Amino acid sequence: MKHFDNKVAAITGAGSGMGRSLAVQLAGAGCHLALADKNAPGLAETERIVRALAPRVHVSMRVLDVSERDAVFAWADETVREHGRVNLVFNNAGVALSSTIDGMSYSDLEWIVNINFWGVVHGTKAFLPYLKASGDGHIVNTSSVFGLFAQPGMSGYNATKFAVRGFTESLRQELDMMKCGVSATCVHPGGIRTNIAQSSRVAPNMVGFMVASEQQGKDEFEKFFITSADDAARTILNGVRRNARRVLIGRDARMADWLARVLPAAYQALVVLNARREAAKARKRARRELASGPASASGNAAAREPARNNNAGNSNQGETA
Ligand SMILES: NC(=O)c1ccc[n+]([C@@H]2O[C@H](COP(=O)([O-])OP(=O)(O)OC[C@H]3O[C@@H](n4cnc5c(N)ncnc54)[C@H](O)[C@@H]3O)[C@@H](O)[C@H]2O)c1
Repeated sequence: MKHFDNKVAAITGAGSGMGRSLAVQLAGAGCHLALADKNAPGLAETERIVRALAPRVHVSMRVLDVSERDAVFAWADETVREHGRVNLVFNNAGVALSSTIDGMSYSDLEWIVNINFWGVVHGTKAFLPYLKASGDGHIVNTSSVFGLFAQPGMSGYNATKFAVRGFTESLRQELDMMKCGVSATCVHPGGIRTNIAQSSRVAPNMVGFMVASEQQGKDEFEKFFITSADDAARTILNGVRRNARRVLIGRDARMADWLARVLPAAYQALVVLNARREAAKARKRARRELASGPASASGNAAAREPARNNNAGNSNQGETA
């Protein structure tokens, strides 16, 4: 798809982070929007920003949970009723979970699989017939750098993001064979400055294994966020314009991709070494903070704020393949 002017895009997880940045940039390019999120206030804020920026763009909104198949299919029908057609779907909504496999509850695992994997499946299947009918359609499914390599404590997230990658690569090949006017792109972001770490679940079994507390687990995760959501969205949209099969976002994603290709099995030993070192550093930091009292802990919270949803600045460029 060469341009987005007068196209219609459906975006899940549009109430925050990359979903919001995609909505803003698409609206700026003249694209009409069907926005969905389970977080109503976040969605309303995205709508406010988009309407102020692009008053001529038609925007519809739906509060829904992407893990609910009927709700996603009803939203696809509603989108076409309201906008007359749909050209793009961004299956972007997602959550994160840190847990050992040993201690992981089935409810946590089902939670993340239902959202990160089944949400992508529902969005793809619900919109595909309408994308075909539009004659010019594109499906953008968000995997992760953790769909390229695995990490201890991230098995649930890894499983869903590897699954999204396999699903989307197969989808793209089928669409290429069908020549039906629809294409697909799999997106692998590295660390992006969004709300995902702070809204993640850190299971109690991680405390003492890789982190010193649940909050520290979220903060440690956030330390690896090096690219802004705006830069990530720009890279994704450039990938769609180029009809890329795969979009890597950030130098961390490019490095992970390289490592997993050069050392497809041995990379794991390097990850373990690094995870041990990071866990030891995290324990040391927690001991220091405990010794210096509660003031230091609240100082950390204040320092955390600007990192979230910081859409400014970073010009970390992604790469498409
Ligand atoms: N931020 C990163 O470092 C990073 C890295 C790799 C991949 N990703 C992926 O990027 C995607 C976007 O995440 P983000 O970083 O912008 O995070 P975010 O938390 O800022 O945004 C995610 C949005 O998804 C929504 N959401 C969560 N569960 C939902 C559900 N069941 N139904 C509908 N909406 C739901 C949330 O309310 C939120 O608005 C996710 O799939 C995530 O896994 C993020």
